[in-house]
Amino acid sequence: MIENEEGLIIVSGASSGIGQAMVAKLLAEGYSVLGLAKDFINSQLSHDNYSTVEIDLAAIEQLPAALDKISKAIDQPIRALVNNAGIGRMAFLEQLSVADMRLVMETNFLCHAIVTKAFLPRLKQQKTVVDIVFTGSEAALAGSRQGSIYCASKFAVRGFVQSIRDECARSQVRVSILNPGAVRTPFFEDLHFEPGQAPENAILPEDVAEVLLTVLKARPGTVIDEINLSPQTQLWQKKD
Ligand SMILES: NC(=O)c1ccc[n+]([C@@H]2O[C@H](COP(=O)([O-])OP(=O)(O)OC[C@H]3O[C@@H](n4cnc5c(N)ncnc54)[C@H](OP(=O)(O)O)[C@@H]3O)[C@@H](O)[C@H]2O)c1
Repeated sequence: MIENEEGLIIVSGASSGIGQAMVAKLLAEGYSVLGLAKDFINSQLSHDNYSTVEIDLAAIEQLPAALDKISKAIDQPIRALVNNAGIGRMAFLEQLSVADMRLVMETNFLCHAIVTKAFLPRLKQQKTVVDIVFTGSEAALAGSRQGSIYCASKFAVRGFVQSIRDECARSQVRVSILNPGAVRTPFFEDLHFEPGQAPENAILPEDVAEVLLTVLKARPGTVIDEINLSPQTQLWQKKD
């Protein structure tokens, strides 16, 4: 990877949807990017300033050692860490297996806490502005039917973000959360519902990526705590 004066940005969930759109936008802006996901088989993105590491973030026990290895291989300042990977398991609570409940909490929340903990000492030591940005959700703001565990995982992220922001206030590290409503991505492939087909029923992954740029470009000394963005007309439809 070519070292770049804009610095390196780490994006998890980079192989698809919002994460992939973020990577494309960051590369176009001149950043170097390190993408993390379980695999990149379906991701065609390639660029001189883009590298990827395949990692199962839900393999919680192996995570600290795997992250240590990744961190040691990074020999340039980290401009930002984007904790974006996530999954949905939407059903009434009685229908969710304990394994699914655990997987959602570990993929959507716990791994991001562990990734943040792994990089934080290094990020706090850097002398320039660093952003840690989380992809939350409208589910981080209000609970909803068939969303109990998903909402709980996103509420957990939001509480974590608020606490870490406070813990980082005396460093150059800024902590933000983006809370999109329905975004048209492969997230819905395994779910029994999806956003309506009209363009105004879902925002695009590129819209979320644009908001990430707004966070990164905030004047040093200013923290954008939280950005909520939603489709103009919220409409969900059941799949056949
Ligand atoms: N789409 C929406 O309507 C919406 C709305 C609000 C918030 N969000 C949030 O946005 C984030 C991105 O979702 P998306 O819509 O872009 O969905 P997506 O297209 O399904 O992308 C999810 C990404 O997370 C990665 N991922 C999942 N489990 C992983 C694991 N165990 N280890 C490593 N990477 C893992 C996936 O890669 P692999 O499959 O290769 O692992 C993929 O890159 C999620 O946090 C989601 O909760 C989505």
